[in-house]
Formats: sequence, structure tokens, C-alpha cells
Amino acid sequence: MEEKAEEICQAAMAGDLSTITSFIEAGYDVSYFDADGLTPLMHAAKHGHTEVVRKLLEAGAPWNALSPSSLSAGDFAMDNGHQDAFDLLLNTGVQAELILGTIARKEKDNGCSNECYLDDRVSFSEDKLMDTDSKAVMMAWEKPLMEAHAKAICSGGGHVLNIGFGMGLVDTAIQQYSPVSHTIIEAHPEVYDRMLRNGWGEKENVKILFGRWQDVLPQLDSYDGIFFDTYGEYYEDMREFHQHLPKLLKPGGIYSFFNGLCGDNAFFHVVYCNLVSLELENLGYTTQLIPLPVRHCLAEDVWKGVRQKYWQLDTYYLPVCQYTDDSDSV
Ligand SMILES: C[S@@+](CC[C@H](N)C(=O)[O-])C[C@H]1O[C@@H](n2cnc3c(N)ncnc32)[C@H](O)[C@@H]1O
Repeated sequence: MEEKAEEICQAAMAGDLSTITSFIEAGYDVSYFDADGLTPLMHAAKHGHTEVVRKLLEAGAPWNALSPSSLSAGDFAMDNGHQDAFDLLLNTGVQAELILGTIARKEKDNGCSNECYLDDRVSFSEDKLMDTDSKAVMMAWEKPLMEAHAKAICSGGGHVLNIGFGMGLVDTAIQQYSPVSHTIIEAHPEVYDRMLRNGWGEKENVKILFGRWQDVLPQLDSYDGIFFDTYGEYYEDMREFHQHLPKLLKPGGIYSFFNGLCGDNAFFHVVYCNLVSLELENLGYTTQLIPLPVRHCLAEDVWKGVRQKYWQLDTYYLPVCQYTDDSDSV
């Protein structure tokens, strides 16, 4: 088996399509990892052999396998400037996730994704909010990002909705724009208590809804700006929230969300940025992704004591979503 792994990887590296084809026909496993922990797909992507990439994908090579340094075939194509191979892998990733999502929704058990988190304690410190698992719910390094999100969703003034209070960074920034009304949904009892202790319940234009967004939906209105940033939920939960946007977002309103999707892998992040933009487009929204450099926000010791580095990329893509009335452009 080891021998076969080396042979198929070498053919992929050389871009030898006919040898790869004969190996596949002979029943070689296309998901072999060679001695360096790389798959044939990674080798082909790294060298920009697009047709070999295509052949391997058709034969079932996993697009999302990771090397020992946590790079996928798409990362290799991207880092080496092989646009065609990159596009092919990106398209494959998006299609695969679309299908997986459809399957997951069919099998959905209707349970709550973050029940454990919501029932458990949290701890606050100056620079972070942590769960009992030493995972960070929210961290102060995100402050400039939260300020940028607030600016985006408050640009039209009016009525604003924020889902997930956390450390209150985005809400503090929203207050600077003096919105007519500022509704905040928060589901964790301790975060909610802290909001009240810090005077959020007494602010004139603030309305706090304690509960999961899923449960307080009937109490919501429609808004000029909406921001979504929960914790412990899945992509599918946010996707479900998006299905309510047509009711929640006023015409001309702006929607944004914390874009931490697969924030620990550059290629998977691109796949998810594309996936979410596509799914929002199907609902009638355009998504602009505004690049914000974040390397300077992440000092060496930021992750000290935190179990999962949920963000490891140099650029943050801030989503600005708006409804597009296609009938105007006909
Ligand atoms: C990442 S923090 C939000 C950080 C916030 N944007 C800030 O600027 O500090 C996520 C928050 O969402 C809350 N949350 C988690 N699931 C929720 C849900 N289903 N509905 C409402 N709030 C939820 C968490 O308790 C937590 O306070």
C-alpha cells in the first residue's frame, strides 16, 4: 500500500494524466497519503496539473483532506498561484458542502446546537469571555472588527438588531450611532445578567430580548440594520436565520454577520465565503466581502489559555449584504 501511495503521488506530481488514469482503472485508492502526509490531489494542485486534479476528484479523491501542516489541496493551489486548479477545487468544495447541507437538513433532529453551552457557566475577564471548556466565546481582539460591523449596519440609521451580546463590543459601537431603536437578543443567563448589571436595560433606545433567537423570532419587527454573531451554533443555524431575513430586514437595509467561517484554514474559509454568498444570493441578497487586515490585532499571547484558535488568517472579510430588487434591472 505504501508503494502504491508513492507511485500515484509521483504521477500526480508529474502531471502524468495517462498513468493516473490507469492507476485509477487498476483500483488504486486515490485517497492515499504518502510518506510526507500528502495526497495525490495535493501534489497535483501544488503543481497546477488541473486535468489530473479533475481526474482525481472524479475518482472520489477527498477535496478536504489535510496535510500534517493542516493544508488542503486548495491551499496548495492557492499558495502556488494555480488559478484553474484552485477554481476547480473551490467549485468542488462549494458543491460538496451544498449537498452535505441538504442531507444534514433532511436528517435534522431539531435539537438545539448549543444547549450545553447555554446551560453551563461562562467566565468573564477583561480580554475575553470563556466557556467551561476553555474555548473563547468572544475576545477583545475582535473590537476593531465589531466597530466595522456596527458602522456597516448603522449606515442607514433607523432600527437596529443585534443577535448575541457577548462582551457587548458591537453593541457599544452601535450605540455611538444613536439608532432610533437598538434590539439585542441574548440567550445565556449569565451574559444577560451582566448586561443588566452594566446598565444595558436602562438605555433609552435599547430593548433586550432574553432567549435564543430561534425562540424570540415572533417578538421581532423589521430593521434597517441586522448583525448576527452567536456562539456554539453551526453554519446550518446561521443559514436558518438567513431564511428569516426577508421578514426581518427592511428594503434597503443592511445585514452582516461575524464571518469566522472556517477561520483556521484559508481555503475552507474561501469555500464558506462562497457558499454563504451563494445561499444569500438565492434569497435575493448581494454580499460584498470587505477585506480588513487583522494580523496586527493578534498579538503573540492573544491565544494564551484558549483551547481553540478559531481565527488564524491575516485578512477578515466583512460581509455587507443587501437586498437586490432584480425587477429594476430588467
Ligand atoms: C461571539 S458572542 C457575540 C459577541 C458580540 N458580537 C460582541 O461584540 O461582543 C456570541 C453571543 O451569542 C450568544 N448566543 C449563543 N447562542 C445564541 C442564540 N441561539 N440566540 C441568542 N444568543 C445566542 C452567546 O451567549 C454569546 O453571548
